[in-house]
Amino acid sequence: MLSKTIEASLNSQVRIEAESSQIYLAMACWAEVKGLEGVANFMYAQSDEEREHMLKLIKFINERGGHAKVSELKAPNVTFGSFKEMFEKLLEHEIFVSQSINELVHISLEERDYATHNFLQWYVAEQIEEEAVARNILDKINMIGDDKGGLYLFDRDIQNLTVTTTAIDPNA
Ligand code: FEO
Repeated sequence: MLSKTIEASLNSQVRIEAESSQIYLAMACWAEVKGLEGVANFMYAQSDEEREHMLKLIKFINERGGHAKVSELKAPNVTFGSFKEMFEKLLEHEIFVSQSINELVHISLEERDYATHNFLQWYVAEQIEEEAVARNILDKINMIGDDKGGLYLFDRDIQNLTVTTTAIDPNA
């Protein structure tokens, strides 16, 4: 059974994951209208992943005797000055999500809720990977600079940009 404090904190995270999904959906749309299909597809997939993160939380809350809340969401940015700016925003956002997960882990220990603490380890591992992917993309974008040919190749190859981290995935 979840305490009220844990339930409210998990529900805040539901909202953050839902907003992440919207933020990345808006990035996908912007990339698509700018003609970078590879980047757009990558961002559509990121948006879907965030929805999965949200659903995983929702199921956990409901299964543990709480009530997951579907709330209104903050409107995301829909345009960006450049792809570099867009990916900087993405990394910034993932760092914000990691901080939020860390805070949740902290609360679960304070509440002595070890089931929630264990559940959250998946998110801890996921955030290490998401931040690493975002940093890897930014490194590539910084190398490309204003080179149009480089951006063309980047758009073609972004799907293959995966990062292997040493993080231990408890569900692996
Ligand atoms: Fe679910 Fe990218 O944080």
